[in-house]
Amino acid sequence: MIYLNGQYMPIEEARVPVLDRGFIFGDGVYEVIPVYSGRAFRLEEHLRRLKHSLDGIRLANPHSDEEWAGILDKVIAENEAQDQYLYLHITRGVAKRDHAFPNPPVPPTVFVMSNPLPTPPDHLLASGISAVTAEDNRWLRCDIKAISLLPNVLLRQMAIDEGCAETILIRNKEFLTEGAASNIFAVKEGMLLAPPKDNLMLPGITYDVILEIAGANGIPFEVRRISLAEVLHADELLLTSSTREVLAITKLDGKPVGAGLPGPMFRRMHALYQEFKHNVMRAK
Ligand code: PDD
Repeated sequence: MIYLNGQYMPIEEARVPVLDRGFIFGDGVYEVIPVYSGRAFRLEEHLRRLKHSLDGIRLANPHSDEEWAGILDKVIAENEAQDQYLYLHITRGVAKRDHAFPNPPVPPTVFVMSNPLPTPPDHLLASGISAVTAEDNRWLRCDIKAISLLPNVLLRQMAIDEGCAETILIRNKEFLTEGAASNIFAVKEGMLLAPPKDNLMLPGITYDVILEIAGANGIPFEVRRISLAEVLHADELLLTSSTREVLAITKLDGKPVGAGLPGPMFRRMHALYQEFKHNVMRAK
């Protein structure tokens, strides 16, 4: 069951007109929210990021936080899995094709679906994943979670074409921003390094969780620009997202990262993340 413009229905019955600006221009924003034991995790933070994205594209928030919570709870309840990930999608609505905003404004299209959230399989935790690097050729508002994801799609496909799972993005051949659909951390001599949350990356909710866990457990970390050289010579690289939790990147551009196996920082972070999931995310 999904939610579309005020109604709940099976996804097969959901229809959007072809003149929807999401379809025509990719003119919209989205959110992905993990659900653990039937409860949306960090809903307030996700809704705050959604508001930031909507503000960034000058689109009014169609719902109050209370209304959103009601819609999401119903979608969660209509789906069976205990752990799910919600997908929220808002476009500027249906209008005659014109780049400028519809004037007067038209109602936005609001869509929510949910899918089961699998935990990353054991073999990926044991081996880590492979990644490639590529120039970050996206726009300068990567802090907006825009539905126009063509650059991210092309960048992710570069990894898939090389038999890898993610593409690590480097700006101006100089510094790390993030992954095609994830945030990236580097580790050097026991120090966890995180790129600063600015207009060049999506401020990940999982990214925040990782830094909170590091802070609470005395793991030293620095938030600062991470150079390409630091990425290429890191002892470890970690990937985070709402759907992939935390994973080790053990091969980059065909070469081993550090020892080529998930390292001590990954193992510690992964264990702490699972503990956090059990004690906080699932806590009623
Ligand atoms: N993407 N950076 C980008 C470009 C992303 O697309 C994502 C997540 C993240 C991680 O953010 P978070 O920890 O809040 O999930 C960083 C989602 C999962 C997606 O597009 O499906």
